Amino acid sequence: MNFYKVELANFIQTRPRSEELWKRSVEKIPGGVSHNIRNLGLPSIGAFPVFVESGHDAYLIDIDGLEYIDYWQGHYSMLLGHNHPVIQQIIKDKLEDGWHFGTVNEGQVKLAETLINDNPSLEEVRFSSSGTESTMYATRLARAYTGKPLIAKAKMGWHGYADTLLYNVKAPFLGKEGPGILPEEQAGIMTFEANNTATKDLIQANAHDLAAVIIEPVLGGGGGFPVALEFLEMIRELTESLDILLIFDEIITGYRFSYGLFQNQLKILPDLTTMGKIVGGGLSIGVVGGRKEIMEQANPQLNNRVWTGGGTFSAHPLSMAAGLKTLEILKKSNQDYTRTNQAGTKFLTEMNEYFTNEKLNFVATGYKSFIALHVLSKYIEDPCPYDIVHSTAKKGEALLQLALLNRHISGMHGIGALSFVHTSQHIRQTQDALEEIALPISKTQFK
Ligand SMILES: Cc1ncc(COP(=O)(O)O)c(C=O)c1O
Repeated sequence: MNFYKVELANFIQTRPRSEELWKRSVEKIPGGVSHNIRNLGLPSIGAFPVFVESGHDAYLIDIDGLEYIDYWQGHYSMLLGHNHPVIQQIIKDKLEDGWHFGTVNEGQVKLAETLINDNPSLEEVRFSSSGTESTMYATRLARAYTGKPLIAKAKMGWHGYADTLLYNVKAPFLGKEGPGILPEEQAGIMTFEANNTATKDLIQANAHDLAAVIIEPVLGGGGGFPVALEFLEMIRELTESLDILLIFDEIITGYRFSYGLFQNQLKILPDLTTMGKIVGGGLSIGVVGGRKEIMEQANPQLNNRVWTGGGTFSAHPLSMAAGLKTLEILKKSNQDYTRTNQAGTKFLTEMNEYFTNEKLNFVATGYKSFIALHVLSKYIEDPCPYDIVHSTAKKGEALLQLALLNRHISGMHGIGALSFVHTSQHIRQTQDALEEIALPISKTQFK
């Protein structure tokens, strides 16, 4: 039997409860998932995702009782690891008082003060329930402030599920991401390429209509491609000189590589920033923040206010409390940041050395603790991001996740991210597993 068949048989045989739940799930929920990527591509190779029942530290335990080292860490939000006792306690304490009132609460003030205090570009912030909402509000605020219609977003940039920015996220980059979305021209969206000098001309040529440029400093949609510092500096200078706002989407990068937003390390201050994930301590959150004169447009006392960030669950007391406590811990975590960043860089370097030496159709991308693994349809020497996204072997990537799960490693986009709870033993175990499975995966042919 070939590698794929052995892996699949082993996977299915040891996960009867997940299989049963998956069958029920696909009957009632389209594709069985409530976020597209959570199927890990596994149905395309005859498998299914595992149903997780609990987690602690670096581990997840599935419904069949199998334990995994987890690198997905709740869509990158659990930098302190799963079920951190201090965060658990603060949520429990808050629960005692009741958990949802739909009123102003002390937590929103404290978290707003903390974020603003930590980050010079933030003068005011607004909370919502998801990152998706925060990017939607950021572009709306930018259009209102500048009185201009157009938003420029990066190819491969991921800003959430709202109609607003669902363009050119994935190869083959056909503009709108699927049916149900307006074409770019109608939606006031323009796409540019990060790290490409032609972008400067494109922005200059459209300056009259451009309200804002939105970009993640590490592109997430493509799978963790850092944007060059010089490119980000160029965009900042250009937008400033042309009365275009710059929005950094820091929903992944915020508080990930050091305490505070990544922009502080880059020394580039945007006009608006979106945040989420880590700053909610693992509970639902979205934040848009930035210069006061832009943010003040959201003030409901204005006759002409910009409708911004207010849903039933916005600034939820539990999210505010978990976020605040997480930031309190992160503030004292310099050593953990340094260790995790260094471990991530080492992991990336060593895996790429291995893939190149063995001439395998694998590549690791990312930045510090943010790590993606790609399986390509062929070996490419030193591939650029576009080589990677245009030659992704989707079934190969699904087999990678399957083979990792069989070796008790749970990831997304290959790996995901290192958190403070990952030890050198976890990482060694993971690299050993990758060195065991990369060759047979690269040799597997799918029809
Ligand atoms: C950079 C970036 N922006 C926006 C979003 C959307 O955030 P959410 O999933 O909380 O709506 C994400 C989520 O993955 C993200 O990574």
